[in-house]
Amino acid sequence: MDRQTWDRRRVSFGAVAQLYERTRPGYPAEAVAWMLSGVRPGGTVLDLGAGTGKLTRALLADGFQVVAVEPSAPMREALSAAVRDARVLEGSAEEIPLPDGSVDGIVVGQAYHWFDPELANPEMARVLRTGGTLGLVWNVLDERTGWVALLGQELDALDRNSSLSGRSVADELGAAFRPAEQADFRHVQRLTVTDLLDLVRSRSYVATLETPERDTLLRRVETLVLRNAPVDGHQVLALPYVASTYRATRR
Ligand SMILES: C[S@@+](CC[C@H](N)C(=O)[O-])C[C@H]1O[C@@H](n2cnc3c(N)ncnc32)[C@H](O)[C@@H]1O
Repeated sequence: MDRQTWDRRRVSFGAVAQLYERTRPGYPAEAVAWMLSGVRPGGTVLDLGAGTGKLTRALLADGFQVVAVEPSAPMREALSAAVRDARVLEGSAEEIPLPDGSVDGIVVGQAYHWFDPELANPEMARVLRTGGTLGLVWNVLDERTGWVALLGQELDALDRNSSLSGRSVADELGAAFRPAEQADFRHVQRLTVTDLLDLVRSRSYVATLETPERDTLLRRVETLVLRNAPVDGHQVLALPYVASTYRATRR
């Protein structure tokens, strides 16, 4: 992907903040607990690239003090509307508006691939205290189910940047961190076909398509889902995910 497309996609979330908040899955409590098992109860955790606060809410539920940093104003507004107890700051992974060694943990949900690692890795190491934990998590479609594999193929044809795409977190984080550990946590999102189409609309590479291309993609996804995905009596389908989760300790 060229730099211009990448920049356009990574700032696209503001335009779809409401859709994002309504349709994107949260994260399994077990994944959050695993990422932050080394952080003391009540410790301060930075949610970096916090979006509308899906991970922020899980952190608050676990009793952490939370600082949420997010560059997009509409995402921050949705976050502040949904979450009262977090400190919400404008900023980015490349310029975190916090002092050195000021947080016990950092978590990044579905956002590390938008960071410039050369700037963001040292910046995360700067604000994290020695012995603190960095946790990264991505919700990835669990394609062991037939219709979900078809959906994944349809979406992958357009998206080459939804996760690390072969990049190695362990190699990338650099000498300030101990080698990263990885674990998978499976979970299921229940949603209607209409919600699923809105979820697809909220993806950066769909949000930045021209209208005719977007409409064509959404029609294809709708046909695929109506033909293949089982729904219950309330027209609700089960969309399975793997929360692919990493943790690394600050040396
Ligand atoms: C897919 S959303 C994830 C939001 C939230 N963490 C979640 O799990 O729902 C990606 C977020 O990363 C933010 N983002 C993009 N580039 C960033 C950067 N360089 N530093 C910090 N956040 C960034 C976007 O504005 C967006 O809110």
